[in-house]
Amino acid sequence: MNPYDLDRAAIEALVAEHGTPLYVVSREQIRENFRRLDAALPAVQIFYAMKANPQEEILATLAGIGAGFDVASRGEILAAVEAGASPREDLIFADTVKDPKHIAYAHGIGLDDFTYDNRSEITQIARHAPGAFVHLRLAVSNEGAVAHLSHKFGAPPAEAVPLLAAARDAGLRPRGVSFHVGSQCLETQRWVDALETTRRVFDDAAAAGVTLTSVDIGGGFPVRYADEKIDIPAIGRAVDEAYRRLFDPSVELVAEPGRAVVGDAVCLVTKVISESTRDGRDWLYFDDGTYGSFMEVLLYRMGFPMRTLTDGPEHPYVLAGPTCDCIDVFSRDDEGEICTVDLPEMHLDDLLVVGGMGAYTFSESTRFNGFEPPEFVFVD
Ligand SMILES: Cc1ncc(COP(=O)(O)O)c(C=O)c1O
Repeated sequence: MNPYDLDRAAIEALVAEHGTPLYVVSREQIRENFRRLDAALPAVQIFYAMKANPQEEILATLAGIGAGFDVASRGEILAAVEAGASPREDLIFADTVKDPKHIAYAHGIGLDDFTYDNRSEITQIARHAPGAFVHLRLAVSNEGAVAHLSHKFGAPPAEAVPLLAAARDAGLRPRGVSFHVGSQCLETQRWVDALETTRRVFDDAAAAGVTLTSVDIGGGFPVRYADEKIDIPAIGRAVDEAYRRLFDPSVELVAEPGRAVVGDAVCLVTKVISESTRDGRDWLYFDDGTYGSFMEVLLYRMGFPMRTLTDGPEHPYVLAGPTCDCIDVFSRDDEGEICTVDLPEMHLDDLLVVGGMGAYTFSESTRFNGFEPPEFVFVD
């Protein structure tokens, strides 16, 4: 059940009990999303990218259905272990830029699979996790994705073999190759192209004496925010077909989805706490904003679905958060400029319900100005 579809009475009852701002979560939707990915990617072992949402009950829900976790820091490792994950079997350290203290901590408790994309990371992993298994992350096309990751992460495929050989020569155990097609990727072909590039790297590495046995296909699986056509089974079929065509069945597949596991399992309820008119436009100020749940509006122009619990005539509003910074405005156009959105007339104390708030909301929220992240409430 997508909690964005809860009726007015149910939302008002939750707000009466818990106040606002409030994350309303469906555990069943999280399980369904995970199972749908698992079914669509039958040959793939799934490690939930917990950066998307590390809330403890969400992690426990996923640990309870057999998910592994992709972690990026000591803090994420601790949270995953607290949720029930075993460091050796259930965790991969897939961030390519690692604090060496966190590598040493991971190694000390048995986490043995790290991702790298440059020589200094080889040095750091070999120093702090000698003999560890490693995946080399490749830069692949992120065209069609909302968040482009390959300009920061990933080695060019032409540099793959020297980097794999360097890892081996440093005493590490190159296990395979990883890539990420970019977050909220709407082009299925990106996974197929990346698998074809990976195949070439496997061949070149074998010719250089490095045998690879694993492919990490990253995350990027999309969520429906507006009218995007999302077809996870179609992505799965394309990945499966490419895998069977290009690789021996002994090659293991791993994925690190974040957004698609939790994105539509959470809605936010936020309240109008102030109103004004500025330069002829009506502004509504809410108890959550860009320093809280709406960071992705600033970062990636993400357009979250919104509905009110009022039924007045439509009116254009600028929507702003509560902090003292002028950037704290979450109604923005495709260029990132402040704009109005049409909503049924709203005033002080009225509630706004925002859908698709499971991924990169709570995890990216700050405590700027002393505002705490919203409370979580689970409806099933
Ligand atoms: C290394 C890595 N893995 C997985 C993910 C999850 O990606 P998504 O939420 O798009 O599935 C990310 C997102 O930034 C990432 O950096």
